[in-house]
Amino acid sequence: TEVHIGIDRMGMFVPEQYLDVEDLARARHVEPAKFTRGIGQSRMSVPRHCDDIVSMGANAIAEILPDIDIDRLGLLIVGTESGIDQSKSSSLFIKHLLNLANRIESFEIKEACFGATAGLFVAYHYVAAHPDRTVLVVASDVARYGLGTAGEVTQGAGAIAMLVSADPDILVLNDDAEDYSDDINDFWRPNGHTEALVDGKYSTQVYLDFFRHVFDEYRDKTALGLDDFGALLFHLPFTKMGMKALRVALEDADVDDRKRLEHNFEMSARYSRDVGNLYTGSLYLSLLSWLEHADLDQAGSGDGSLAGTRIALFSYGSGAMCKFFTGRIQPGYRRGLRAESHARMLNARKRLTVQEYEQLFDEYYASEDVQTEKPESGFYYAGVKHDIRQYSRA
Ligand code: CAA
Repeated sequence: TEVHIGIDRMGMFVPEQYLDVEDLARARHVEPAKFTRGIGQSRMSVPRHCDDIVSMGANAIAEILPDIDIDRLGLLIVGTESGIDQSKSSSLFIKHLLNLANRIESFEIKEACFGATAGLFVAYHYVAAHPDRTVLVVASDVARYGLGTAGEVTQGAGAIAMLVSADPDILVLNDDAEDYSDDINDFWRPNGHTEALVDGKYSTQVYLDFFRHVFDEYRDKTALGLDDFGALLFHLPFTKMGMKALRVALEDADVDDRKRLEHNFEMSARYSRDVGNLYTGSLYLSLLSWLEHADLDQAGSGDGSLAGTRIALFSYGSGAMCKFFTGRIQPGYRRGLRAESHARMLNARKRLTVQEYEQLFDEYYASEDVQTEKPESGFYYAGVKHDIRQYSRA
């Protein structure tokens, strides 16, 4: 019999403070509507010195750890483009912080924002080969462009953790992905740079061109149409980017498809609007946002269930590599959702002044000297000793 493989659990973490983009707009002498409507953002998560990819990734896993059968866990993968070391994988720090067994295989994957999708599909093939085992895939990043740059409003930070297994509760992945890659320079971060370099307008154009290509190829290959999909989910460096891609998909749509897919897109973009770009985690934040908002929406009107819904996901990593893939929501998906605690996590964040945000930005990559502030709870990065990064738990 065929093995069904996909996402069984999803955990999320965002830092404890945010910047309102209207405050940023005023400080940069920009019309606030440009950021809220033109870019499509409301708030962005701001990391403190103590929030790095290891602490954020460990915190995202901690949310789902009680549901994980550690005896079955065979592999832990981190997808990131905010690496903390040129050699050692961030996943080994995370594995240690969570006290996971030494027999577990572990490594990090890099291809800009595509890294976690690469991890998800490594996990898919791993579980296909070993259906009794599970894999943890973590997307953890700090999106940084620099103070006063055009990309500044599209920053963010946080992590998403996904448990991949056979017969998952949330989403079964289909084996029908369409890939496309090319060697281009739309966004990159040379060794030694703490901020990304980006050809912003070009990057948005490549994103759309790649999307159009894989979307057309997928439809030719499968003969599936828009009416076969409940939702189209996108990598959201900022929510307007996904809206532009959705418009490409809807070019020849009828009114019903258009309404349904626009409504579902709006629900998929709510967390990103409040958090900003998570790079590798962004597509999975939109999946989580859609699941947690559409579920409430359906419970009020439809048959109360998203189970059976076919969805499509578009992953894009600059450089550039993309994948269009699909999956089906499973009957047990509610067991994997935490809408209330995620709403609490987002609402409990502290609003920073622009001045506080600029200070956190400047000291983020400073070494030992920064007086590390502890978070209220969870894992945190505690500075460097003897060239080795230290971590602790509040
Ligand atoms: N009211 C409403 N809208 C307004 C406005 C106002 N007062 N003033 C301007 N706008 C609109 C503009 O019309 C424009 O909308 P459209 O794109 O729909 O035409 C929008 O605001 C943005 O304005 P600009 O075109 O002037 O763009 P910008 O110079 O501010 O730069 C950006 C925008 C290129 C996205 C920049 O933020 C950037 O470089 N971001 C980082 C790169 C990025 O995220 N690229 C995405 C693709 S790459 C990727 O996906 C990988 C990744 O994660 C990085």
